[in-house]
Amino acid sequence: MPTIDNPTQKTLRELGVTESAQISPLFEEVRARFDSQANRQMDAHSYEMLRQSWIGRKSGIVNAITENWLKPSPVELKRAVGASLNQLREHIEVVLKTAGLAIESGAEESALAREKVDLSLPGAVRPIGSHHLIRQVFQDVEDIFVSIGFSVVEGPEIETPYYNFEALNIPEFHPVRDDMDTFYIDLPKGAPTPLLLRTHTSPMQIRTMEKQKPPVRVIVPGKVYRRDNPDATHSFAFHQVEGLAVDTLITFCDFTGTIEYFVKQFFGPGVKTRFRPSYFPFTEPSVEFDVSCIFCGGSGTAASGATCGKCKGAGWIELFGAGMVDPAVYGFVNYDAKKVNGFAFGMGMDRLAMLKYGIDDIQVFFQNDARFLRQFP
Ligand code: FA5
Repeated sequence: MPTIDNPTQKTLRELGVTESAQISPLFEEVRARFDSQANRQMDAHSYEMLRQSWIGRKSGIVNAITENWLKPSPVELKRAVGASLNQLREHIEVVLKTAGLAIESGAEESALAREKVDLSLPGAVRPIGSHHLIRQVFQDVEDIFVSIGFSVVEGPEIETPYYNFEALNIPEFHPVRDDMDTFYIDLPKGAPTPLLLRTHTSPMQIRTMEKQKPPVRVIVPGKVYRRDNPDATHSFAFHQVEGLAVDTLITFCDFTGTIEYFVKQFFGPGVKTRFRPSYFPFTEPSVEFDVSCIFCGGSGTAASGATCGKCKGAGWIELFGAGMVDPAVYGFVNYDAKKVNGFAFGMGMDRLAMLKYGIDDIQVFFQNDARFLRQFP
């Protein structure tokens, strides 16, 4: 058998093969060459190179044998060449298939190893938010009132003029409406009633009494709106907590006692309080409730010796409006004004928070500045 570098590029005649006995050794040599190449360590790339070089449709060695050995072979050798070629092709295909499967499963294993989740590793730490200071103050106020028998109820921010004004004894064209100018909702023509953003939480006095017979003891936390120009103590959206207690034997003393208890719990025992006469159409008598200024200790003079800017030298800061429920209001909810009495109050939560935490501008509550918010985790 002649030894040449690449016998498959030559015809059998060029190789000097003239008898069928020479065919088998010729194919064995080719097969040995394939085996030695297929036995090497392979990855997906070298496997594909090997596959192409042996059974590639045009350039593969098996194709070269077909073209150079089988097709031009003399008739008497054709049968033996064809049989050996088939055996060789089968052998190559089986070996390549096995090697291919091994490479595939090896790749899968290493991908699995790569993608394995290590549960013992520490997780990604996400910063956890906290309640906004106003929400915290709501919670404090609710806790104090719940501890003395009040329940918490909530109501709609979009109201009808009836609940926001009329049923609170504020008829149309009453001058007090000017103090509570608000935002009206654009409604299609023919809407049954105008709608507005509530100017205070007091409409919930009416809604609660409509639903419930006395005794009533509720507080109503919520958001309210007014067309007030923003400044250090005013915002067009702010927060109130309404309070309402109605029963058969509620006196002004119950009212002052409840409010003073709340204020001492909320601000601490050092704070001084006072009531001033005031006016609300839905309470009679009406009062404004003041606390001694926490910025100057009630002296009206700042540490620098100048007039305290927060209380403007008064030594007192107005906290909220309140009073005994006006008997006219009971008429709107079918309570017998001769049998029941009670008190109501409406506190500005934002100002309460400002006073307790020494914040001198209400606007910081609405600016979402993380540097401010982080101070109240
Ligand atoms: C009322 O809103 C009455 N509904 C309170 C009331 C309830 C009286 C029950 C009697 C019985 P007034 O308009 O004063 O009252 O507002 C109450 C509190 O809301 C004020 O003391 C103040 O703390 C706060 N407040 C009022 N307007 C603003 C504003 N534009 N920005 C921030 N806080 C405000």
